[in-house]
Amino acid sequence: MKRFGFVLIVLLGLVGTLFLAACQKEAPKASPASIANGGQIYDKWWKVVQGAAEPKDNQALWALQTTNTRKGADTWRCKECHGWDYKGKDGAYAKGSHLTGFPGVYDASLNKTKAQLLDALKGKADSRHNFASLLGEAGLNDLATFLKEGVIDETKYIDLSTKKPIGANVAHGKELYSSTCVACHGADGKQILFDGKDSLGFLANDNPWETLHKIRFGQPGAPMPAGVVTGWSIQDAVDVLGHAQTLPSK
Ligand code: HEC
Ligand code: HEC
Repeated sequence: MKRFGFVLIVLLGLVGTLFLAACQKEAPKASPASIANGGQIYDKWWKVVQGAAEPKDNQALWALQTTNTRKGADTWRCKECHGWDYKGKDGAYAKGSHLTGFPGVYDASLNKTKAQLLDALKGKADSRHNFASLLGEAGLNDLATFLKEGVIDETKYIDLSTKKPIGANVAHGKELYSSTCVACHGADGKQILFDGKDSLGFLANDNPWETLHKIRFGQPGAPMPAGVVTGWSIQDAVDVLGHAQTLPSK
């Protein structure tokens, strides 16, 4: 009996040591700058990755679908195949000109480890999905970090059918907009026109998922701040989206 007690104590000690070792192996928290860079790579990687060139031909997987008729560089954007809301064919791209039938990355971001996500980006399952030489080791790492820590379930924050943010504090959004966005976009959101014509108010109402992504991670190639780097919560970004939707569309 004495001997049994001894063995038990040794065993408990061993389990405890293993547990502590496992805790220590847990990766350190990713830097916000890495998450933001990954989010911008997801958006338009050739504007962010140093030395990368804008692709001209269609991405090889593009031939698997016929519903989205875009060509060239657009077919290489993560967002074009997997969606601004990370839900692919099950989200906002379930219909309309962006429909490809490709799945989102939300489930994978939840269920796969970072190493498994890196495998997907290196084309382990399908060589046509190999982005390694284009993005480089640092780019791949930031992208996988973004998938693990930046991707959220946007149906909790934006109503898919009305395109309205859920539970936005518009007054708080206006305060944040006035301190962080006004200098470049103007109080009416018309100081910079996207594609030479669209105001911020137009984009926020037309594509709230794209707007939220850009508020959180920034704009590739532009000196625009990223919410995750500024220290904004998801709710802060949703509040700014709510205010942006009140700005004039024309
Ligand atoms: C031309 C379209 C296309 C582009 C561009 C593209 N993907 Fe994919 N992606 C796919 C397809 C198709 C699959 C395979 C889906 C399946 O398992 O059937 C896939 C799979 C994935 C998976 C694994 C999903 C899972 O559930 O196992 C991840 C993660 C992923 N892509 C992320 C990205 C990221 C990040 C980028 C940007 C570098 C990107 N993809 C660019 C089409 C694309
Ligand atoms: C330092 C200047 C600057 C600040 C500050 C800034 N932006 Fe921007 N923003 C830009 C520039 C430049 C672009 C790129 C315009 C283009 O590509 O036509 C842009 C693009 C955008 C886009 C994407 C439009 C598109 O179609 O690609 C959105 C959305 C946006 N900004 C919202 C915001 C919000 C909200 C804030 C405050 C959190 C903000 N910006 C702060 C300069 C800024």
